[in-house]
Amino acid sequence: MLIKNPVMAVTHLTPAIGARVEIGVDAMLSGDYADEIRSLLEARGVLVFPGVSLSDEQQVVFTGTIGEQIDEFSGTVPENGVRERIYKVSLDENVARTAKSLRNSFFWHLDGSMAEVPIFASILSAKRLSDTGGDTEFCSTYAAYDALPELEKAALEHLRVVHAAWALQRNADPEPSYADFKRQRSGPSRSQPLVWKHRSGRKSLVIGATAAYVEGMDYLDSLDLLVRLRDWATQPQFVYRHRWSIGDTVMWDNSGTLHRALPYAADSGRLMHRTVLKGDEPFDCA
Ligand SMILES: [Fe+2]
Repeated sequence: MLIKNPVMAVTHLTPAIGARVEIGVDAMLSGDYADEIRSLLEARGVLVFPGVSLSDEQQVVFTGTIGEQIDEFSGTVPENGVRERIYKVSLDENVARTAKSLRNSFFWHLDGSMAEVPIFASILSAKRLSDTGGDTEFCSTYAAYDALPELEKAALEHLRVVHAAWALQRNADPEPSYADFKRQRSGPSRSQPLVWKHRSGRKSLVIGATAAYVEGMDYLDSLDLLVRLRDWATQPQFVYRHRWSIGDTVMWDNSGTLHRALPYAADSGRLMHRTVLKGDEPFDCA
């Protein structure tokens, strides 16, 4: 037990990543512990609030205590143009318009890797679970970077990686029609530093399933490096795997982690409700 006061008890889930936070819902929503929770999130990467069973309204209130919430579209902009406070994470197309693209969440990624400023954090609450699969894994890209040999850190320092929608989509759709490939290719893409130098002075790796190639490097050498670094960062000592129970809320620092869902069936009923927090740190902030 690392922090124990009358309202909040914190235990580490693994040495490198994750903390379990036991706190009453009233205290969680009060905002009185928001600074402590945010600091803990930045330090541990993932926070698990077991069995708090937040309603949608409570999740929105909690999110607002930690930072500025961004409302989302579940995929394409709906006809009424109204963004949603609660984004439904489901592979069932009758529940979420994004169901098809959510299959990409089976691959290690960070959210917003093609944006100038990615979201800071996501908060997921488990509403329904799949009988098989559906755990969520997180790896610390801070811890993975820190553990690299110093010579390698120096070699990676100035490299830039193009992150692209087509690279992600080819995981779920490896043999697209040419028309589909043209559509994927015209999707978002952006050059990002391989090593994110945060304002705090910490450094993390910007890798994952959207990483298409390293700029200025032979294509195969570039894939070699990206595969090796993803394999490095997702070793067991950098990973926390969350086995969900209904009512759990899990929050992660998107700027220092990768995440993925372990595969589950589209008709399994699995449903998570998500809120996200706006980021204020561009990848290029050094
Ligand atoms: Fe994601």
